[in-house]
Amino acid sequence: MQLQTGETLANTDRYAKAVATSKRVRFDIDRDVIRGRSFDFTKKFLPDGLSKVDRIDFLTADEKRLLSQIQGRTYANMFGLVERFIAAKVLEVGGDHRLGDQNALEALVRFADEELKHQELFRRVERMCAVGMPDGYAFVPEPNAVAEAVLSKSTWAVLALTCHIELFVLAHYRESVRADPNTSELWSDVFLHHWREESQHAIIDELEWQRVDAKLTPEERDRAVSELIELVGAVDGLVQLQARADADYFLKVCGRSLSPAEAERVRTGVLAAYRWQYIVSGVQEPRFGKILGSLITEGQADRIAKALAPMMH
Ligand SMILES: [Fe+2]
Ligand SMILES: [Fe+2]
Repeated sequence: MQLQTGETLANTDRYAKAVATSKRVRFDIDRDVIRGRSFDFTKKFLPDGLSKVDRIDFLTADEKRLLSQIQGRTYANMFGLVERFIAAKVLEVGGDHRLGDQNALEALVRFADEELKHQELFRRVERMCAVGMPDGYAFVPEPNAVAEAVLSKSTWAVLALTCHIELFVLAHYRESVRADPNTSELWSDVFLHHWREESQHAIIDELEWQRVDAKLTPEERDRAVSELIELVGAVDGLVQLQARADADYFLKVCGRSLSPAEAERVRTGVLAAYRWQYIVSGVQEPRFGKILGSLITEGQADRIAKALAPMMH
């Protein structure tokens, strides 16, 4: 039998703590989040700190609210999408523990179960958003096609992207807490409950990412860094596509015709908001930089920083 080192003992303890917290904060979609409510369309869905609609200063208050609602609908669809490949990867790495650390196995089983539930939550949110919006909204990316593409990369790269995503949920929750009273309470509850469960996911991502990293040769890690750069590029591609679709939908349903210069500002404003939501807010989470920095060389960090530069504004 394998001798347990200090590190694996410390890790099994961290997995066990994640399991205990996961049991304590576990939410039920109807009982804890939705509670028989529907969305109040007189309120904003995403807080300004995420939607950045306050920066598009020529929009009326009603138009800003509509744009925040469209972004909220896309937020639900985006999470439904990323949680598809996250659940699949978590099930796969969980298999490494099946006859090993049973705390780790339980933590990963719960993690996958929670992501399946989150997908269901976000599907419900999408349907509830649709009820109050004019026809014509489209979520462009197809979750399974994106998942296939992401999962074709190395586990190191997928776990890096996953850790980044689960850490930006933390940044999003902070923004929702700061939100003004004109923001939907139901949406704030979605942020709260999602963040509570995601907090454990971020801890488990870190442990799994380090575990997988320890088995790589320097050459394999260097290739994985390139794949992470490709994945972030792919996320940016999705974000550009959906930002364009959402801005055009807004321009069609906002009830007046904007000048070409104003329409362009809506498009760039939505793109900047989406890059902030799905890329920059994660990259800027100090914990993400710390974990990534501990695994890669300075040269690799430079390559990542260069690739991110065009998305960071
Ligand atoms: Fe989730
Ligand atoms: Fe998660």
